[in-house]
Amino acid sequence: MEKKIVFSGIQPSGKLTIGNYIGVIKQWVKMQKKYNCFFSIVDLHSITTYKNNFNINNNILDTLSLYLACGINPNKSIIFIQSNIYEHTQLSWILNCYTNYKELNRMIQFKKKKKISKNINTGILFYPILMASDILLYNTSYVPIGLDQKQHIELCRNIANKFNNIYGNIFNIPKPCIFKNGNRIMSLQETNKKMSKSDKNLNNIIFLLEKKKDIFKKIRLIKTDSKKCYKIKHDNNLGLLNILNILSGLTGIKINEFKNNFNNKIYSDFKNEASNIIANFLGKIQENYYNIREKKKFLKDIIYYGTIKAKKIAKKNLFKIIKKIGLKIKI
Ligand code: TRP
Repeated sequence: MEKKIVFSGIQPSGKLTIGNYIGVIKQWVKMQKKYNCFFSIVDLHSITTYKNNFNINNNILDTLSLYLACGINPNKSIIFIQSNIYEHTQLSWILNCYTNYKELNRMIQFKKKKKISKNINTGILFYPILMASDILLYNTSYVPIGLDQKQHIELCRNIANKFNNIYGNIFNIPKPCIFKNGNRIMSLQETNKKMSKSDKNLNNIIFLLEKKKDIFKKIRLIKTDSKKCYKIKHDNNLGLLNILNILSGLTGIKINEFKNNFNNKIYSDFKNEASNIIANFLGKIQENYYNIREKKKFLKDIIYYGTIKAKKIAKKNLFKIIKKIGLKIKI
């Protein structure tokens, strides 16, 4: 039986955080064993927000190196840059014409962005359609994403169903894969919001490339009350519970095991030990990363071969769609 297809992507717009790793990239690494995976660097999505002072080529190579350092294997998975495959934008236009604009207006991410910016471009409104094109172009079955993207996948499913109702079974209806633990990784100092790479307060974030001393510093800054005892069983300190979630997410060890281990420890010991575990874990990824990032030719080859493979499939599938809606006339 043919392996099912997985598609996912990350914008090359900033540095990746441990939240991205635990919530998404770790799932990608696992899924490679069972599925045919497409992992894209979605640069066209990133230009909806980032334009000036933004070295996209370096950011793309940084992101690619991080994918590889975390365990994405280019011999198993197809890695490519979204803008290199024109079929994505072509399908995106077609899907625009099968989507009611009210559906786009309803997207939570769009509404949030509209609120914080007066000068909003239409790329932000059409963002989820380009995302639907990424997914539907490859007959994807599963889409590993963070919880914030769930509504976009629902929209993608609606569009695919609408299309199928008119033209027959053209698209697979993709399912989102959301790893619950990953969505519990909150900002370090403000635990009422998710850890986000675009947070202006850097003390809220641990990046995958965070230096050891900064990991210690940021964890030390988390507020604890004046009790000296760290009784995690009775603890309702959200900042420390967040750290436990991070430890569990990184290592795969159950949270209760960590709770038992740290029971009755004083806060500062807990913080130091937790920082050490995180720093060791990230240290290995960082070592891989810096090795890989040097090898420009190796990185470019990965993109080159990934693009060739993805392009072949995208071209074939887009042709089918275009034919189906009656646009292609043989001359
Ligand atoms: N919008 C996604 C995010 O910001 C990135 C993305 C673009 C994506 N295209 C995709 C994710 C297709 C999954 C599948 O996280």
